[in-house]
Amino acid sequence: MFAKRTNWPTTANALAQHWRTVCESGDLTFDLTPSNPTAVGFAPSPGLLALETSCTYKPEPLGLPLARRALVDHFGLDIPPEHCCLTASTSEAYGFLLSLLCDPGSSVLTPTPGYPLLHHLCELHDVARVDYPLAYDGSWYLDLGGLRDAIARAHNPSMLVVISPSNPTGHCLTPAELAAIEEICISNEIALVIDQVFAGYDLPTPHPPPARPLDSPRGCLTFGLGGLSKYAALPQLKLSWMLAAGPRDLVDTAMARLEIIADTYLNLAGPVQHALPSLLSQAAPTRTAIRRRIGANQTFVKTICIDKQSPVTPLHTTHGWTQLLQLPRLGLDDQQWAHELLAQGVRTQPGYLFDLPPGLGPTLAVSLLTTPDVFRPGITRLLETVAQACREATVRS
Ligand SMILES: Cc1ncc(COP(=O)(O)O)c(C=O)c1O
Repeated sequence: MFAKRTNWPTTANALAQHWRTVCESGDLTFDLTPSNPTAVGFAPSPGLLALETSCTYKPEPLGLPLARRALVDHFGLDIPPEHCCLTASTSEAYGFLLSLLCDPGSSVLTPTPGYPLLHHLCELHDVARVDYPLAYDGSWYLDLGGLRDAIARAHNPSMLVVISPSNPTGHCLTPAELAAIEEICISNEIALVIDQVFAGYDLPTPHPPPARPLDSPRGCLTFGLGGLSKYAALPQLKLSWMLAAGPRDLVDTAMARLEIIADTYLNLAGPVQHALPSLLSQAAPTRTAIRRRIGANQTFVKTICIDKQSPVTPLHTTHGWTQLLQLPRLGLDDQQWAHELLAQGVRTQPGYLFDLPPGLGPTLAVSLLTTPDVFRPGITRLLETVAQACREATVRS
């Protein structure tokens, strides 16, 4: 009856079940995984959401011209509004691009560690995912040799995805890395997709300029993705964008075909598009508040690890909402550590969920968005749990 591509496990995994039991126990718990800004103190003021709902319906598949113009103006882009496509989410933009660029059986190059939803999106489009590596040697970098090997392995590679800033690593592609990727895309006739949803969340700079989408390669067909969910911390409004650049004939063909794909769904709501100019212009204080939160949480975790001489090492990161923590091995992998910590009421995400390289050892992800009243005692308990496990291991040996 059902398509094989949807034959996924549908029961809660062991970690989710364990967390439910821990929550039901009534003991104090610390969830260090929230990723929804509206649930951790960044809900918008009601006035901001006073959307115009009485406007007449205008089905514009790529988005209302006023909204696309607002986007281009806000970022000061040198591409015309006609080269923007608005979507209801970044996932939908990925879906459109998979339909546009990939035949069934062709391949998409995806970064690892990377975005777990890309696995599902590729499966839903009958497209093979070929991973290429990011590596860590004190900071993250693109393993260019690994990327070239992945392309050589890929059957009919059609699309190369980069995520910059990357989640969960926080890695931002350097101009040299981008230039190398552009070269690879041109010589292999592959379209480049740059997921920039975390642009604007640089940790060290208190007031970075708004992240300009597509300050990046133009020699190949390139799509830059972003959206209100991260840029304005408004995931509930369901508005994202995709900006096309590159050789003019390819961009024109892409936009004409994207218009038909988007017209097939017409998922965009009118009120949020009318509100886009003011939503974009009012988003900076929220981004600043989020940067402050993630900066303070990051400083806390780095400082306490040093002060307590903890064997837990926060991996170097410069962007995004996630902090990776490397734990001592002690015979445990990241999943087993996540269970150990859950038993102490601390919820983290094991690194395998993001395909972190096994060479890193057990590594967990914590969200820097977490409110400080949860983050600080949660991290403190995490370090105590690890310290206790180290003491027990010493006694055993
Ligand atoms: C790398 C990356 N891209 C896209 C998204 C999702 O964006 P949206 O909520 O606009 O679909 C996420 C969500 O966390 C993400 O981590």
